[in-house]
Amino acid sequence: MAVLEVNNVKKSFGDLEVLKGITFSMEKGEVLAVIGSSGGGKTTLLRCLTFLERCDSGRIAIDGEEIVGEGEFIVKGKKKKGEEPEPDKTVVRSVYPKDEDLRIKGLKMGLVFQDFNLFPHYSVLRNLTLAPMLVQKKSKEDATALAEEMLVKVGLGEKRDAYPYQLSGGQKQRVAIARALCMNPSILCFDEPTSALDPELTLEVLKVIADLKKQGVTMLIVTHEIEFAREVADTVIFLDKGVVLEYGDAKELIDRPKTERAREFLNKIVSSGVGDDKAE
Ligand SMILES: Nc1ncnc2c1ncn2[C@@H]1O[C@H](COP(=O)(O)OP(=O)(O)OP(=O)(O)O)[C@@H](O)[C@H]1O
Ligand SMILES: [Mg+2]
Repeated sequence: MAVLEVNNVKKSFGDLEVLKGITFSMEKGEVLAVIGSSGGGKTTLLRCLTFLERCDSGRIAIDGEEIVGEGEFIVKGKKKKGEEPEPDKTVVRSVYPKDEDLRIKGLKMGLVFQDFNLFPHYSVLRNLTLAPMLVQKKSKEDATALAEEMLVKVGLGEKRDAYPYQLSGGQKQRVAIARALCMNPSILCFDEPTSALDPELTLEVLKVIADLKKQGVTMLIVTHEIEFAREVADTVIFLDKGVVLEYGDAKELIDRPKTERAREFLNKIVSSGVGDDKAE
């Protein structure tokens, strides 16, 4: 059974159509990388999938449960003075559950923010136990045990009592990953997890993500690290101007892109050294 099913998701900001009908699905344990030029809609897609943003139309199902459905609505035609009224028209729109239900269901999608978003005045441990205790009503003991386990997973067992300001960027990012894992999401999503980091710290974070894959964590990663996507991802989506231009096996797509547009993008990235750790 697919862990995530996304059907024909569309999203506009005013007149700007940013997502023009996105369709894909993910299996348990799959790592999917989303690549593409700046402004192509990658972050918007991730925000729609983690429910920080609402899509206009399209369906989203997680673990076989439809979270966002679709319905038909009749829009009354407008009438201007002295003119024939426009005819009524039927439009299809996404249908979302009530806010509180969406908040709970939305927890199945974990998100690691680019700039970590740790609470600066809380210790690492408190950063990790806060949501499980508040939202999932876990006891302090259970939340602490879970947090310690997740910190070990990202190689930071000894930092439980540190404060964010005492950590390097890479360590902060790994704490943010551990924090997301504490909520036991069905899919862990990343938006360019290493773009704020220097090359050495980038490697550290990419290694943690590769380890999580070995442990079977299902992940959706927006990234400019093409070599990483090629090595770690199973599948890749090349998103261009709001359209899934290419979608398939990671190595196949990156080594042999079918469209001119993807070829151009990949060539540019490789020749500029962006996303290539060895270039630094
Ligand atoms: N809240 C918003 N209001 C209006 N326009 C927006 C909003 N968010 C994004 N956009 C526009 O949508 C388009 C896609 O933006 P998005 O951030 O999804 O691109 P991206 O692929 O993540 O780019 P990058 O690689 O630079 O991060 C851009 O033209 C952007 O200006
Ligand atoms: Mg972005």
